[in-house]
Amino acid sequence: MTSDTAAADRTGTDFEIFIVTAPGLESVLCAEVKAKGFRDATAIKGGVTVRGGWPEVWRANLELRGATRVLARVASFRAFHLAQLDKRARRVPWAEFLRPDVPVRVEASCKGSRIYHAGATAQRIERAITEELGAPISAEAEVSIKARIDDDLCTLSVDASGESLHKRGHKEEIHKAPLRETLAALFLHHCGYEGTEPVVDPMCGSGTFVIEAAEIAAGLHPGRTRRFAFEQLASFDDAAWQAMRSAGSAGTAPAVRFYGSDRDGGAIAMSRANAERAGVVALTDFQKHAVSDLMPPEGPPGLVIVNPPYGARIGEKKPLFALYGALGQTLLSRFSGWRVGLVTNEASLAQATGLPFQPSGPSVSHGGLRVTLHSTAALP
Ligand SMILES: C[S@@+](CC[C@H](N)C(=O)[O-])C[C@H]1O[C@@H](n2cnc3c(N)ncnc32)[C@H](O)[C@@H]1O
Repeated sequence: MTSDTAAADRTGTDFEIFIVTAPGLESVLCAEVKAKGFRDATAIKGGVTVRGGWPEVWRANLELRGATRVLARVASFRAFHLAQLDKRARRVPWAEFLRPDVPVRVEASCKGSRIYHAGATAQRIERAITEELGAPISAEAEVSIKARIDDDLCTLSVDASGESLHKRGHKEEIHKAPLRETLAALFLHHCGYEGTEPVVDPMCGSGTFVIEAAEIAAGLHPGRTRRFAFEQLASFDDAAWQAMRSAGSAGTAPAVRFYGSDRDGGAIAMSRANAERAGVVALTDFQKHAVSDLMPPEGPPGLVIVNPPYGARIGEKKPLFALYGALGQTLLSRFSGWRVGLVTNEASLAQATGLPFQPSGPSVSHGGLRVTLHSTAALP
C-alpha cells in the first residue's frame, strides 16, 4: 500500500474493507465479524474494518448478517485542491476493479478539508474514470464509488454490495413497521442466540426475527439468493464466487423450531410466505392469536424476542401500556426458564412489562425512531 496512490496492493489481496452497520451496533457487528474469521477486525464509528482481498469482500457480503453494506477501500491520497485531486484520481488503477463497459457513479462528501465542494469532487473523479478507463457515468449505475475527503485525505471505496444488505432477496411481503433483517440479526446475537435454542416472537409481523433465527440455526448464508454490485467489477471471478456461495448452501437440520404469532391474520400469511421463499418454512410455525393466548412450545426453553408496536409509529400510546403489561404478565407466568429480548422506542413501555430487564442494550436509529434492546436473563 502506498500512501499517496492506491490503498490496495497491486494484486488486490490486502486492502482495508469497511463493513457498514447501523450506528450503535458496531461492537455487536464486530463480534460477528470476528466469529466468522475475518482478519484484523476493529470496530470504528459506523462499522467495522477488516483486511483482506476480493474473496473476503464477497464473503462479507454473503455471510455477515449484521452488515448494511461492504466497502472496499481502493485508494487513498492527500488532496489539498481540485487540480491535485484531478491528477491523483487519474493515477488510481481503475482498471483493476472497474470495467470499461459497466456504468459507474460517484458519491462524494467533504469534511474539515480545503476541498469543501462535494459536487466538484464527484465531478473530478467521474471525469478521471471516464477519461482514464472509458467507463460511462450514470446516476442509475449499480456500481458506485464513495469518495470521502476528511482532513484533506481523500479515500475512495467501491461499494461492493449495491442494494442494502438488509434486503436478503427472499422477503417480498412486509407488514407495518417491519424490522430490518440486519437489526433483527444483531439483536438476536446480542441476546446470546447462537442457533441452538428455540425462538418465539409473539408479535411477529412479517416474521423477521423468526426467519432470521431459523436461517442462523440452519447454517444458511444471508446473501445466498441475492445479487451484489461486486458481480459487475473487473475483480470478479464468477467460478470462485459460485464455489464460495454453494459451499454454504446445503445448511444443516436444526433440532429446534422457531415460532411466530400475531393477532393479525394478514401478518401470519406474510410470515409463512416469507419463510417459504427463504427455504425455512419446515423449521417455522406461525399461528394467528393474540399475545394473551401465547403458550410456550413443547421442549426446552429458549429466547422470546419481540418488537411490539411503538407509540410514535402505529396506534396510540395509552393502550400500549396495557398491551406491554399483558405481554409481561404472560411471559412471567408461563415462560419460566426463557430469556426475553424486547425492542422498543420508550423505556417506560419496556418498564410497563414488569420484566426483570438488565441494563439496556444497544440503541439504534430505526425508521426515524431510536429503538433500544431490553433483555433479561432466564426468567424465574
Ligand atoms: C412493530 S410490529 C412487529 C414487526 C415485526 N418485528 C416485523 O419485522 O415485521 C408489531 C406487531 O404486533 C402485532 N400486535 C399488536 N397487538 C398485538 C396483540 N395483542 N397480540 C398479538 N400481536 C399483536 C401487530 O399486528 C404487529 O404485527
